[in-house]
Amino acid sequence: MGRIIAMAGKGGTGKTTLSALIIRCIKEKKLGSVLAIDADPNSNLGEALGVRDGENIGRILDSICSNPDKVPAGMAKERFIQHQVQSAIQEEEGFDILSMGKPEGPGCYCYVNNLLRGVIAGLVKNYDYIVIDNEAGLEHLSRRTSRFADTLIVVSDASSVGLKSAKRIIDLVKQLKFEVKKSFLLINRFNKNIDNEKIKETGLDYLGSLPNEAEIENLSLQGKSIFELGENAQVFKTLNLLGEQIWERN
Ligand SMILES: Nc1ncnc2c1ncn2[C@@H]1O[C@H](COP(=O)(O)OP(=O)(O)OP(=O)(O)O)[C@@H](O)[C@H]1O
Ligand SMILES: [Mg+2]
Repeated sequence: MGRIIAMAGKGGTGKTTLSALIIRCIKEKKLGSVLAIDADPNSNLGEALGVRDGENIGRILDSICSNPDKVPAGMAKERFIQHQVQSAIQEEEGFDILSMGKPEGPGCYCYVNNLLRGVIAGLVKNYDYIVIDNEAGLEHLSRRTSRFADTLIVVSDASSVGLKSAKRIIDLVKQLKFEVKKSFLLINRFNKNIDNEKIKETGLDYLGSLPNEAEIENLSLQGKSIFELGENAQVFKTLNLLGEQIWERN
C-alpha cells in the first residue's frame, strides 16, 4: 500500500513547491515509486516538475458524461474509467503524474465521481508513495481524490492570519472526517524561530520551517522546474532533517 502524503493550506503558501521538493527528494534518494497527483484545477504541479501538459481527469469525465455511449458495449463503466485514468497517467523519469483538472460540463457527475474515487483508491496500491498537491483551502478539496492520507502537511506562512487559516483547515479536516493518520504544520519562507504558543493554538504538530530561498522564486518566475534547483539549497538540508516524518516508512 502506497504512503499518501497530501498538502493543504491557504493560497500561495507553497503547497506546490513543497510537493515538487518532496517528489524530487523521494526520487533522488531512490525511496520507491511515486505518483504525483495534481488535484488543483489550475494545475501547476506539472510545471514545477518540468512536465509537459497532458490529459486530465476533468476532461475524461466530461467526455464520458457527455457521451455515455463511449463506453464500449460489454465493458463495465468502472473498468472503462480505470482504463482511461491509466492512460492519463504520464510516466516521467523517476515519477508518474496524474492531473485531476476540472470537469466543465453541467451534468451530474456523482455516479462517475464515485466510481473514479474507487479507481484512484485502487491506484494507491501500485506505488510506494502518492504525493497530492491540493488546491488552496479545503472547502473545495477535490471530491475526486481520496479522503485518506497517511501524512497531511498544512503549509502556512508565519503570520497570525496564516496560522489561523491553518487551524481552520485542520478543524475542517476533522469535521469532514477525513482519514488522516498524522497531520503537521509546516511554516514556509521563514528563517526565524516561531513562537510555540502560536503553534499550539493551531492544534497541529509542528513539523518545521522551510527557509525563504531566492533561487526557488527565480526558478518559478522563469517557469523552470524544481529539478533545476542547486543541490546545496538550504531547503534540502531542512527537508532531509524533516524527512523521517514525511517519507520514512515505519
Ligand atoms: N521556500 C520558498 N522560498 C522562496 N520562494 C518560495 C518558497 N516556497 C514557495 N515559493 C514561491 O512562492 C510562490 C507560491 O508558491 P506555490 O505555488 O508553491 O504556492 P501554493 O500554495 O501551491 O499556491 P496556490 O495556493 O496558488 O496553489 C511561488 O512563486 C514559489 O516559487
Ligand atoms: Mg499550488
